[in-house]
Amino acid sequence: MSNFPFPPASGEHPSYAPEEPQRVLDPARHRRAPILEALTAHVARTRAAFHIPGHKGGRGMDPEFRRILGRQALAFDLINIAPLDDLHAPTGAIREAEALAAELYAAEDAFFSVQGTTTAIEAMLLSALRPGEKVLLPRNVHKSVLSGLILSGAIPVFLTPEADPVLGILHGLTPEVVARALDEHPDARALLLVHPTYYGTGSPLETIVSLAHSRGIPVLVDAAHGAHLPFHPDLPVFPTYAGADLVAVSMHKLGSALTQASLLLRQGPFVSRERVRASMNLLQTTSSSYLLLASLDAARRFLALEGRRRVGRAVRLALRARDKAGRLDGLYVPGPFRPELGFSFDPTKLLVYVADLGLSGAEVERILRERFALEVELSDPFNVLFVISIGDTERSIALLLQALEYLVREERRDVPKVMPFLLPPEAPLVISPREAHFAEGELVPLEEAEGRISGEAVVTYPPGIPLVLPGERWTSQLLAYVEFARSRGVEVRGTSHPKAHVVRVVAE
Ligand SMILES: Cc1ncc(COP(=O)(O)O)c(C=O)c1O
Repeated sequence: MSNFPFPPASGEHPSYAPEEPQRVLDPARHRRAPILEALTAHVARTRAAFHIPGHKGGRGMDPEFRRILGRQALAFDLINIAPLDDLHAPTGAIREAEALAAELYAAEDAFFSVQGTTTAIEAMLLSALRPGEKVLLPRNVHKSVLSGLILSGAIPVFLTPEADPVLGILHGLTPEVVARALDEHPDARALLLVHPTYYGTGSPLETIVSLAHSRGIPVLVDAAHGAHLPFHPDLPVFPTYAGADLVAVSMHKLGSALTQASLLLRQGPFVSRERVRASMNLLQTTSSSYLLLASLDAARRFLALEGRRRVGRAVRLALRARDKAGRLDGLYVPGPFRPELGFSFDPTKLLVYVADLGLSGAEVERILRERFALEVELSDPFNVLFVISIGDTERSIALLLQALEYLVREERRDVPKVMPFLLPPEAPLVISPREAHFAEGELVPLEEAEGRISGEAVVTYPPGIPLVLPGERWTSQLLAYVEFARSRGVEVRGTSHPKAHVVRVVAE
């Protein structure tokens, strides 16, 4: 299936699927930005405003902050007054902008989130599941899925994603694993997937979606890292094109919007638009930031008009950087993970395995920060991830390569350390995350938690995947893994204590 909805520039060979003409966008429609236009017109005609926000265009605020943001941006920092529509019941500019976003991503509906993909994911679970209903999902989900499980009361059935035997990371689910789970849990009411993963692996979505649909259940996709996928034919398929029913996308991560601006996309007969709107309204603030809404509108326009060119450039830069970094002795730059299983690959996620240098990912992260003032996307015990995006240039990539050359030349530790763990050990789920969240609990030092049911999530950060969920039992292996992760410089975060030295456990 084509992943490419755009008409070719004149004279180019068409790379979109000609049999799917409905996916070709009309550039004239997408040159519009209804929210931006409404804001511009409103600010130009307003003589005085006797409503919140009380800073009134920045006049009543800290001067340094005003200077940093600029008067124009502050004039646009408005709330839902009549000429600007209302995110909770859109009938004007927001409705139009959401319709254009839906068109861009080939969905029936788009819902704007000013609370990131976290809220979009929570809303997916609240829309598709009732308390006590089962949802099939991989264990390597972001912690926002846990919030959605607690809020919805859905019961997770965790499936095992493919593990990478070298890199110590988890990829996607295979259709075989999903098919088996569907057989074993005929009462499951939804399937949730992460596509692409933080590390850039796409799952064989079309096959998996048709398996779920053939059992009459919807597919919800966490596509937090997928806003750029439709704009290059070689990237993993965008989930709506593969038939997914609900898709949460961080426009702020790779789609050029401001931080916190995300989309929830919907299509198909399984989950109604009214239910999704109700769930989003339940979770979102009534004071939605128009800077964030306008940035979603502008990001949609930018991607519609420029996405193909800019994502194309990012892919080219990434391929070149991968090639050069992969030639440096001591670094391993993995390519696609097991394509024979149907996995796809996003080359703009430049993952570098650094353990052969005798360094942990966290050590490399620190060296790059201190010597090159260069920040990475994430590090884990073995790897460092560099995100190459529509914002990169030849210069930024040259600096990255210079830093990697320095690393292999000057920072190599001769003996690679012996690693006691490749992946976090599994934790047995004893009660549902919601039950554990609401249960009576007590605080104990982490080292005394063995055998206890966790009352909170403990998360390694990034990527923000819980090591332990509320409802899972602490084992000696898990406690040993926490020690290991800390020794490799990985941040372990809890709720009761920021570094999880004390954790809440369920009173038994
Ligand atoms: C895989 C994944 N899903 C969901 C989220 C949450 O997205 P947001 O930060 O937009 O709330 C993240 C954030 O890092 C993520 O990595």
